[in-house]
Amino acid sequence: MALFVPGKIGDLVVPNRIVMAPLGRARNHVESREALGRAAIYYAQRATAGFIISEATHVSPASVSRPGTGAIHSEGQVAAWRAVTDAVHQANGRIFQQLFHLGRKADPDRLPGRQLPVAPSAIAANGTLPTADGSAKPFPVPRALETSEIAELVEDFARAAENARDAGFDGIELHAANGFLIEQFLRDDANQRHDRYGGGVENRARFLLEIVDNAIQIFGAAGVGVRISPHFRGDGAGASDPSTLFPYLGWALNRRNIAYLHLIEPDATPAARKLRAALRNVFSGSLILAGDFTRESADYVLRAGEADFVAFGRLFISNPDLVARFRIPDAPLNEPDEASFYAGGDRGYIDYPALDAKAALLA
Ligand SMILES: Cc1cc2nc3c(=O)[nH]c(=O)nc-3n(C[C@H](O)[C@H](O)[C@H](O)COP(=O)(O)O)c2cc1C
Repeated sequence: MALFVPGKIGDLVVPNRIVMAPLGRARNHVESREALGRAAIYYAQRATAGFIISEATHVSPASVSRPGTGAIHSEGQVAAWRAVTDAVHQANGRIFQQLFHLGRKADPDRLPGRQLPVAPSAIAANGTLPTADGSAKPFPVPRALETSEIAELVEDFARAAENARDAGFDGIELHAANGFLIEQFLRDDANQRHDRYGGGVENRARFLLEIVDNAIQIFGAAGVGVRISPHFRGDGAGASDPSTLFPYLGWALNRRNIAYLHLIEPDATPAARKLRAALRNVFSGSLILAGDFTRESADYVLRAGEADFVAFGRLFISNPDLVARFRIPDAPLNEPDEASFYAGGDRGYIDYPALDAKAALLA
């Protein structure tokens, strides 16, 4: 199967095309947000993936919302992540760290000094934030960033990339998807600035590209990937010109020679396929697709040359040995238990059973 053809991601040689998608599991220390011992077990259990992309980690204390999500802006967090990357490397795996900033989707009640979240423009996301008592409250209207403050945020990402390097990660993935800060700059529904960070696609892409350029200084282009979600409509961060914006991004990232572009692509409409093909045309690094893939549909897109890697999210939550299971036709898969996705603790995290492969082959 194409899934098991060895490949390269940047400079890394990887044994298969099966990527563990970034998955926030809200299992870090509630106050310090340091990864706990169980994270090293969880990620090492999944080290047979071609490579792992870590859960999204906050680049700054001004980014947070739900308790227990990961971060990479303090020394303690770097040391805690070092234990995770060591465990993955000892298990012969490879791991990139996903970096993000929530921007207007941060929770003011959890930010230092209860400050307002920042964003390109003072426009609230559609939707709600979870509250401590289990109810929901609307996203706040954020404070629009002064032009001079944007450099500080770019710097937050650069420091986080340095931290990721010090923590032993093989590379970083910039989370430019799902309506978080980088995507808020990209999309003109959320970005109505009149300075050099707003307006046409080149201006809206500037924030991401400045962050990418810094990350390249730290990891080399071979250690940098970018995740985008051209079809995300979750919280009102639309773009009026996706068919210009995303190919421009693909072109600009290609010029920088980064390792990969990671596309969240649950949308199988003709327009989505056309955009994917346009990106494939302009971007010659690796293309990773994610979203609702099965063993068979993943193998199909790899064989058709539509992708170089396929990332699996929920199936990797419930099957630590997903790669071994995919090697066996019709091997049973554990069902992911949604109730424990963000529940904390070991249950639903490190206790999903591996398959008894010999028994499965004989069955
Ligand atoms: C519990 C959970 C947490 C997630 N956390 C992240 C995240 O931190 N960063 C990210 O880019 N995507 C995140 N996603 C999206 C996944 O990476 C993936 O794109 C999505 O689950 C679709 O793939 P699947 O159908 O294989 O699960 C998350 C998804 C789930 C279910």
